Amino acid sequence: MTVTETALAMQDLTPFIGTRIDADRETLLSGRHGKELRALLQQRGVLIFPQVHFSDDEQVEFTKTLGTLAFDYNGQAMEGGKQQAIGKISLDEAVSPTARALKNSLLWHLDGTTSETPILASVLRAIKLAPEGGETEWASTYAAYEALSEEDKEAIDGLRVVHSNLQLQRNINPELSYEQFQRARNTPARSQPLVWKHRDGRKSLVVGATAGYVEGLAHDDSLDLLVRLRDWATQPQFVYRHHWQLGDLAVWDNTGTLHRALAYAPDSGRLMHRSMLAGEEPLA
Ligand SMILES: [Fe+2]
Repeated sequence: MTVTETALAMQDLTPFIGTRIDADRETLLSGRHGKELRALLQQRGVLIFPQVHFSDDEQVEFTKTLGTLAFDYNGQAMEGGKQQAIGKISLDEAVSPTARALKNSLLWHLDGTTSETPILASVLRAIKLAPEGGETEWASTYAAYEALSEEDKEAIDGLRVVHSNLQLQRNINPELSYEQFQRARNTPARSQPLVWKHRDGRKSLVVGATAGYVEGLAHDDSLDLLVRLRDWATQPQFVYRHHWQLGDLAVWDNTGTLHRALAYAPDSGRLMHRSMLAGEEPLA
């Protein structure tokens, strides 16, 4: 057999989560390493490609080498039939129409918990940085589940949590007007298992800012569990924090991590371009 491929230069960033990959644009765009990177993504949770400086089109092409491009959190076309593979992530309302809702991106969460099949992965590219703050953190919900005591694993097995847009809205504004409350309620909530039993046999925790309450528990007991597990899952040993440099690209497995951005000024200019991979496995 002739070896025609050069191996990718890789370095684990923490023991449980995050791998840095140094590769040039041409190598990544060729798709030659697509399968390998996809497998690595599911093992390591987050892949960082320092300063690859893709264009939007290149980012989309690269995203496609890892799976199926998604157009929103459900993998469907955007409203009005307009498909936009690249979303602008900014807290500045003059830049992004969803800037207000993105205040939630500062809270630990995973995307698409109110859909049956959350997106598989997100790809984020640094276009403009905030002078201060704006780092991104990811926590491995596989490692966090694995490290739970057997007693805890048993206690939470079979529990279900209701995730909702209402909960998200209340995070931003705890005192919604009744009209705002009704509007938020219009998006259907969804009951999801607290422990995601993935097809490959691995298990991960599903907690974070969209989690409203645990079914069948009294209010305070429900909060007690959700807050405890979120704190557990986001302990430093399960977390990788990325200090962005211009042109960096990050890819993360949305089905086995939580993510959040650290605070930054909305008018700082910080801008990320995001593309997504459609989910391939219902949360179950
Ligand atoms: Fe997100």
